[in-house]
Amino acid sequence: MKILITAGPTREFIDPVRFITNSSSGQMGYAIAAEACRRGHEVILISGPVQIAPPEGIEVVNVVSAADMAEAVKSRFPACDCCIMSAAVADYRPAQVCEQKMKKSPGNLFIELERTEDILKSIGAVKTDRQLLIGFAAESENLLENAAGKLERKNLDWIIANKLSDGFAKSTNACVVLGRNGEKIPFDKRPKTELAGALLDLFGI
Ligand code: CTP
Repeated sequence: MKILITAGPTREFIDPVRFITNSSSGQMGYAIAAEACRRGHEVILISGPVQIAPPEGIEVVNVVSAADMAEAVKSRFPACDCCIMSAAVADYRPAQVCEQKMKKSPGNLFIELERTEDILKSIGAVKTDRQLLIGFAAESENLLENAAGKLERKNLDWIIANKLSDGFAKSTNACVVLGRNGEKIPFDKRPKTELAGALLDLFGI
């Protein structure tokens, strides 16, 4: 299979030196990419800024912002059999990016944020029956309800739901995987490298 995998955070710049981001490490996406490659699949990894060496044998496309990631994913998805969106994409970006470094002034600063594109929703809207689409949901409350809503809204085949306290920015993860046919499969805590194999087994990849 030809598999597109996204990983890591995005950066949304405020000015040339400041940006909004999150603490995603990219470890889950890189582990899935390495395991898929080991199984003989052709893997394209679209990666936000992370501290992980690029895995051998994998085409890595480095991106910075949610807009870059959207462009990279949408242009490649039609030629792929499967997309696994593990990236922690920013939902908002500064409405204006200052060209010069912002100077401080007395009083509070308010930065207007605008929504970024929901990449997974965009490709869910154009996915064909032969393409497999898999997303992630990192939640701090109402894990299964929120994940089930995302599975439906984004037209996914599977969603990997994890509590923020379990997996975000850690080397281990516990999760529950929900499927479009009502499947609900728990995976107890284990290294992300091991979880990657168990997930690919479940997805038949
Ligand atoms: N995602 C995406 N594009 C975005 C935001 C998220 O493709 N702009 C993808 C992520 O890669 C992940 C899934 O959507 O696979 C996460 O769903 P989302 O609803 O965006 O989760 P949150 O960002 O946590 O948002 P919410 O505040 O709705 O919980």
